[in-house]
Amino acid sequence: MEDERELARRWVKEAKSIAALTGAGISAESGVPTFRGEGGLWRNFRPEDLATPEAFATNPVLVWEWYQWRRELIGKAEPNTGHKALARLEASGKEFTLVTQNVDGLHERAGNHRVRKLHGDLWRLRCTSCGAEWPDRRVPLAKLPPHCQCGGVARPAVVWFGEPLPMEVLRASADAAEEAEVLLVVGTSAVVYPAASLIPVAKRGGAKIIEINTEETPASGVADCRLRGAAGEVLPGLVT
Ligand code: OAD
Repeated sequence: MEDERELARRWVKEAKSIAALTGAGISAESGVPTFRGEGGLWRNFRPEDLATPEAFATNPVLVWEWYQWRRELIGKAEPNTGHKALARLEASGKEFTLVTQNVDGLHERAGNHRVRKLHGDLWRLRCTSCGAEWPDRRVPLAKLPPHCQCGGVARPAVVWFGEPLPMEVLRASADAAEEAEVLLVVGTSAVVYPAASLIPVAKRGGAKIIEINTEETPASGVADCRLRGAAGEVLPGLVT
């Protein structure tokens, strides 16, 4: 009998269109802490309490200190073998859409050119007054909070709890999920919506769902194949 990894490898090999939904777990082996679980805590704050417009309005410096800490960590991190396997999948000539909840930029650094970023980008800033957005890779930032040329306070160009996702990105991601023959669900706790809703969307569209995670998640129940292990160890074996 085919074991789960062989089965998943065959599905990936035979599929003409593949989508992947990634979460913080794919960057864990690059040394980037996940949100949920012990490593996700920073000075005893929960990410859910800092990644909100209310937290930023109350204390922009505190929220920026958290982002500054993450920019420092991520700035030193390198893409791992999991990121690189997904870059190979894009280069393979199959129709491939990479949807990520991560804001760390490691997928692009691994070589993926088309990344649908549901939750924005840590390396971009947005003005809270005039709405201007620009790239900024400085680590550390000179002064917190950073300011826009117009004088307004700048925030990270990421999506916070209670804020809508970029509509175009979400729509394109849902279309890709619906059309995919295989959806890889990698390193996500699958509890944050609407990102997690791409899993049932893909399932309804007839995709085989392959979950790659070190632990069981709410997505495990709908997955057709559950590969328990680290993304950097499992993914290279799927994309050969
Ligand atoms: P979480 O921190 O919620 O979940 C990380 C998942 O990765 C867990 O299910 C772990 O079991 C798994 N994991 C850890 N190490 C792994 C490894 N080496 N290989 C494979 N899996 C591993 O992260 P997300 O699901 O990405 O949103 O969180 C979703 C959203 O919640 C984030 O985008 C962020 C956060 O708050 C916003 O900031 C809006």
